Amino acid sequence: MATVTAAAGSGDGADGGPKLWGGRFKKPLDPEMEKFNASIGYDKVMWSADIDGSIAYAKALAKTTIISEAERDKLCEGLEMVRKEWSVGQFQIVPSDEDIHTANERRLTELVGDVGRKLHTGRSRNDQVATDTRLWLRDRISNISGLLKETISAFNEQAKSNQTVMLPGFTHLQRAQPIRWAQWLLCYASMLKRDFDRLQEVYNRTNVCPLGSGALAGHPFDIDRDFLAMELKFDGITLNSLDGTSDRDFVSEFLFWSSLTSTHLSRMAEDLIIYSTKEFSFVTLADEYSTGSSLMPQKKNADSCELIRGRAGRLTGHLTGWLCTLKGLPLTYNKDLQEDKEPLFDSVETITSLIKISCGVIKTLTVNPDKMKAALSSEMLATDIAYYLVRKGVPFRDAHHVSGECVQLAESKNTDLDKLTLEDFMVVSAKFESDILDIFDYEKSMEQYNAKGGTGSKSISWQIDVFEQWLKTN
Ligand code: ARG
Repeated sequence: MATVTAAAGSGDGADGGPKLWGGRFKKPLDPEMEKFNASIGYDKVMWSADIDGSIAYAKALAKTTIISEAERDKLCEGLEMVRKEWSVGQFQIVPSDEDIHTANERRLTELVGDVGRKLHTGRSRNDQVATDTRLWLRDRISNISGLLKETISAFNEQAKSNQTVMLPGFTHLQRAQPIRWAQWLLCYASMLKRDFDRLQEVYNRTNVCPLGSGALAGHPFDIDRDFLAMELKFDGITLNSLDGTSDRDFVSEFLFWSSLTSTHLSRMAEDLIIYSTKEFSFVTLADEYSTGSSLMPQKKNADSCELIRGRAGRLTGHLTGWLCTLKGLPLTYNKDLQEDKEPLFDSVETITSLIKISCGVIKTLTVNPDKMKAALSSEMLATDIAYYLVRKGVPFRDAHHVSGECVQLAESKNTDLDKLTLEDFMVVSAKFESDILDIFDYEKSMEQYNAKGGTGSKSISWQIDVFEQWLKTN
């Protein structure tokens, strides 16, 4: 890791050493202010993006009259030397290094001499930081997209191998209708697929190049911004220099994206926490994703899921905090914008681990089909009684009422709905015939729902196929 070395002397700047912007200042920064102002402690993670941006910038400058080709080569070689220092952990941060941009430029100039002082011509840290952050985030988004796809595939694989398993589906956390476990799995796969699609949109809006916008007004030396974008593999350039330097929508969108995705994972975690209790015993979390109690030897806790659920809160916190920072800012760059870094970096790290852990939990999860089936009860087929009557020509509202009376009758007889006799049913309505007794079959009940999207087996296979095709083509 990079270390902070002793001050190189105060000179024209702060106690920590000379500043790149020190010319108009007589007094150094207050030491507390120096610390308050510095972002190097965290923005150093963008070292590679910063070097990439500077190499592209040196090449673009050489296309103007600002630097010669020989100077460009010297700058590029120097920047590669700086890259090497970072990559082997030998880069020495000095106290005057306010942020990653000043640190890299300071080191470059130490290595290549005065030509290093030409690199920043027409550039500002305002367009530089916007560029670096986009480059950095772009890479992370690609990585997260891959993990997300793997997780969607894990849900789909579990659905494939558990197609016959049934359990109670809940509304209001009350037993509602029998569903297939695969239907539950594919529900989360659907959420995550939307998250994947949304993330590609965030990527598209992140992958735009603001470099060459200068401090706010644009570039005075006719720099080729399209060339810069091409060198850095951006899809295009920002349209307006004020927007280019002050826009952080891509940060806001990513923070929203991670809060929404973590909200989905948190709901999944909550389901699994409930389903893994002794009371439910629908699923068993793998040992690799559970922990014990230091006091109660019998305990096996769903800590992985609790942490997924708990940590999701932090992501929404980052989004909220950041939007509060942003909402009152006048155009264009204000130092407040530096406050995007810590929430952004932490959100990337947090959502990455939430996805990885969720993927592991799903891949290793075991289901207990007998327990799931045992939790089904015949009153969950009350809707089927109504549908039976509908098939005999009774309007649904009336059928619903009649079915409710059957439920009431079973309750008054202190028995289950499927224990009512044909005579009992016929007392409630003359529409009932002997085939009413055939509806009490959970498997048959679920097979009614074969319209696309339902919990019927044909619909489930169709959903699995859709995911499979999508996984192949994305
Ligand atoms: N460290 C700053 C940031 O992250 C860089 C931009 C500083 N620009 C300025 N004009 N002070 O936003």
